[in-house]
This record gives sequence, structure tokens and C-alpha cells, in this order.
Amino acid sequence: MTRRLVRDDLAGAVDAIRRGGLVAMPTETVYGLAADATDPVAVARIFAAKGRPVDHPLIVHLADPEDLDHWAPDASAVAHRLATTCWPGPLTLIVPRCDLLPAEVAGGRDSVALRVPAHPMARELIRLAGVPLAAPSANRFGAVSPTTAEHVRRDLGDVVDVILDGGPCPVGVESTIIDTTVSPVQVLRAGAVTADQVAELLEATVDAPSGPARASGMLASHYAPRCQVRLVDTSDDAVAIAAGTARSRILDLTHDAARYARDLYSELRRADDDGVATLIAVLPDAHGLGHAIRDRLTKAAAPRP
Ligand code: TXA
Ligand code: MG
Repeated sequence: MTRRLVRDDLAGAVDAIRRGGLVAMPTETVYGLAADATDPVAVARIFAAKGRPVDHPLIVHLADPEDLDHWAPDASAVAHRLATTCWPGPLTLIVPRCDLLPAEVAGGRDSVALRVPAHPMARELIRLAGVPLAAPSANRFGAVSPTTAEHVRRDLGDVVDVILDGGPCPVGVESTIIDTTVSPVQVLRAGAVTADQVAELLEATVDAPSGPARASGMLASHYAPRCQVRLVDTSDDAVAIAAGTARSRILDLTHDAARYARDLYSELRRADDDGVATLIAVLPDAHGLGHAIRDRLTKAAAPRP
């Protein structure tokens, strides 16, 4: 059965979480597919619903920055500093995992990903549920992340118990992921909190991604729509290529990086809905939010398996 979207059924959502079910919740980045992070059976439902390999760890969402101590007693001073400054917000911290969180939620690792989302509906849900919520993006594995409740309904409407509609996600790309278990800390995924901001906050150097992919969002060919995505550096290049390409469309929001990030996944989906064969995307400059947009576009354009 396809679920209806609900704006204010927090009680129903809390009830679903308590029964070990799945709730789609809005966050400021993308919609998450949430379940009780302390319950391995509920966590297994997330992997099954997404079709996600069980060794790909999930992000655990906390209600308040002060909860870091309880759920990650071994988190470093650097992790605390970032949590205090950037939470609630689009930043995920990799910290040592303690036994309160099952190995399943971390894909078997001895570290775990934590974040406090900024969306009021997500925080209220976590508070009322009384447990941290494991939540990957609420899409099938490898597909484009959802930034509206309607996106979730179309992808996963038949497997979630409740879809909370909190409106379109204001950031639009997934959280920045920082591994605080290594020194210097390492950026595993670019997002709205930039590496430069983190370096400035910590008054320290920050490593860019290197070596084999450690986060699933780092695999080539993730976030992929059905249409081909072609990347270009300038609007003029886009226009020239579009002239010779059948059923093409240009995506160029380079004048406004925040809007580019916010609308990116909707635009990828809309291209598919409209039968576009080739989406020609103009890459924004590689600074600030531009890093995250370039990263997601590059993955959308990567060769498919
Ligand atoms: O903005 C977001 O982060 C959204 C919203 C819903 O919060 N969530 C999200 O989750 O993007 P997901 O599952 O699509 O991406 C989680 C990423 C994956 O790339 C995963 O590999 C990485 O976090 N991750 C989780 N735990 C990790 C760990 N212990 N070490 C390294 N990477 C980890
Ligand atoms: Mg995802």
C-alpha cells in the first residue's frame, strides 16, 4: 500500500518507531528513512527497504548536541568542538562507537556516524521517540536522494509506515561527513559545512578524501538519475553541446550556489520525468558549497555499473 503524506502525525510516527517500523523524516539536507538506531531488527528493515548492502554504515541522528557525551563517550575534543559549533546542522561526525549502538547500524565498524539535524520536525520526532534514529537518505540504494515528501512517496511509499511532510529540504545535499577518529580530521563527504570552515574552526589542517572509498556516497555512480548527465565548465559550452544533442536540457544554476544545491536533486528527477535523454550540467566553481555540488554532479555523471 502506498502511504499518504502526513504533516502533523508525529504521534503516529513515534508509535511506528517504537514498534520497530520505518518513518520518512524531513531534515534540512535530504529526507531520511528513520528507525530506532538501538534496535538491530529495525535497523535491518532500513537496509532491506533501501536495497543497501549491510556493510554500508548508517548515520545516527540525535535530538540535541548535549547527547553526544551519552552516545559517544569516547568522542575526541575535536569532535566536541565541532558538535558544539555546528550542531544542529548539516554536519556528520565519525566517532568511536560504544556498545549502546549496535554494530549493525555501523555496518560492523567500531566507529559510528552521528549528527543532530536542524529540521524542527526531525528533532521533535527524535525527542519524542526517546531513542536516536538511524537514517540514511530515503531513496533506493544508488538513486537520487529525496528532497520532498513526494519524492519519498514515489521511491519508498510501499515500504515505509509513515511519511512526515516537512516541506522541501532547504539545503538539498547530504551533510558534510568528517572523520574525527583520525588526525588531522578527514572530510569523507563534502556538504554545506565546508572543509575551509572546519579548518578555520579547529585552527588546524583538514584532509580531503583519499584512497579507497570509505563512505558509500563516495562510490562512483551514486546519486544517479536515469538520464545521461554530461558535465561542462561554462554556459557557452552547454549551449554548444545542447545544439547537437537530441532530447537534451541544460542545468545551470551557477549564479546561485545555495539554490543549485537546494534544487539539484529535484532537477535530476524532473529531467527523468520529462523524458530528457541528456542533462548538460554546468559545474559551479570549486569553492564553498560548490564542492558538494560538483561532487554530486560528478557521481551522477559517472559510468553506471
Ligand atoms: O544529510 C545526511 O547526512 C542524510 C540525512 C538523512 O541525515 N543522510 C545520509 O545518509 O546521507 P546516507 O546513509 O545516505 O549516507 C551516510 C554516509 C554513507 O556514505 C556512509 O558510508 C557514511 O555516511 N558513514 C556512516 N558511518 C560511517 C563510518 N563509521 N565511517 C565512515 N563512513 C560512514
Ligand atoms: Mg544516500
